[in-house]
Amino acid sequence: MSTIQNLGVFTSGGDAPGMNAAIRAVVRACKYYELKAYGIYRGYDGLIAGDIEEMGSRSVSNIIHRGGTILKSARSAEFRTPEGRKKAYENLKKHGIQALVAIGGDGTFTGASVFSSEYDIPVIGLPGTIDNDLNGTDYTIGYDTAVNTAAAAIDKIRDTASSHNRLFFIEVMGRYSGQIAVRASIAAGAEATMIPEEPMTIEQLIQLLERGASSKKSSSLVVVAEGGSPGHTIELAKEVQEKFGYYDTKVTILGHLLRGGSPTVSDRVLASTLGVHAVEFLLKGKSGGMLGIVNNQVKFTPFEQAIRNVDNLDPEMMRIAGILSV
Ligand code: F6P
Repeated sequence: MSTIQNLGVFTSGGDAPGMNAAIRAVVRACKYYELKAYGIYRGYDGLIAGDIEEMGSRSVSNIIHRGGTILKSARSAEFRTPEGRKKAYENLKKHGIQALVAIGGDGTFTGASVFSSEYDIPVIGLPGTIDNDLNGTDYTIGYDTAVNTAAAAIDKIRDTASSHNRLFFIEVMGRYSGQIAVRASIAAGAEATMIPEEPMTIEQLIQLLERGASSKKSSSLVVVAEGGSPGHTIELAKEVQEKFGYYDTKVTILGHLLRGGSPTVSDRVLASTLGVHAVEFLLKGKSGGMLGIVNNQVKFTPFEQAIRNVDNLDPEMMRIAGILSV
C-alpha cells in the first residue's frame, strides 16, 4: 500500500500544447484514487515561492482543449542553487506534499533528478515540450500540435510564394533538434530542410534550389530548424540571395507561434494517458524517471537517460523529404 496522500503537479520550461490535458489527467486520477492534488504555479519558481493551491476535479474543467498551461511555467535560475531547492522542499513539507508529477523537458527533468536525490521526494516526469527531443517516448506532448501549426503556416506561405516566384525560408523552433522541421517539411512539401542533425552547406542548398529552378519550379520553400540560434535564418537567407538571385527571397520566423493553440487529438490523448499513469506509477512506488509511449506501450525511462545525448531523429524522415522535393 502506498503512503502517498498528497501529490503536487507542475509545468516547467517552455509551455507546450497538451500540458493542460496532462494537468487535468493528473488531478482527476488523484480524485479517482482518493489523493489530494496540489497545483504548483510557475514551475520550480512557484515551488520556491510557495505558490501552491489544492485542486479538485472542477479546477481542471474546460481545459483539455486549451493551449498554454493553467499552472503557468517558468525556467527557474534559483532552483539550480541548493538554497532554492531547500526552500522548495520546505514548501512541500508545509503542504504535506509527498510526491510530484513534473511536466516539462530536459531542464525540468535535470532539476527533478537533483531534487529527488537530495530530498528523497518521489518524482515522475511527463514529456511536455514541442521539441520531441527526449529519449523514451515516440512523441512528446505538444510536438504533434506544433508540427500541425507549422504545416498549416507553411501551406499559407506556399500560396504567396508561388504567386510571386519567391524563395521562402521558414524558421521553426526546436532548440537543438530538427524534429519539428523535418516532419513539417514532409507534411507541407518543402524543397529543402536544414537541421542540426544533418548539416547542409549553403553550396549544397543552392545546388538543390538550382535543380528546382531548372525543372521550372516557380517558387521554393526551405524549412530551417532554429537549432539553438533563433533568428539565424535571416543571415542565411541573405547569403543565399547574394549567391543565387533566381528567386526573390523572403524569411518567415514562426518562433513562439508554434507553442500556442489548441492541442491536437494525438497530444490530448497522449497527455491524458500519461497523466493517469504518472499517478499510478507513484502509487506503485516508482519514481526518478519519465513516462513516455513507445510502440503504444507506456514506458518508464530514468531521468538521466531521458535527457542524455538525445538524437532520436529518424534518418528515414530526411530521406523521404529529399526524394519528394525533386
Ligand atoms: O524547448 C521548447 C522551445 O520552444 C524551443 O523550441 C525553443 O528554442 C525554446 O523553447 C524557446 O524558449 P523561450 O520561450 O524561453 O525563448
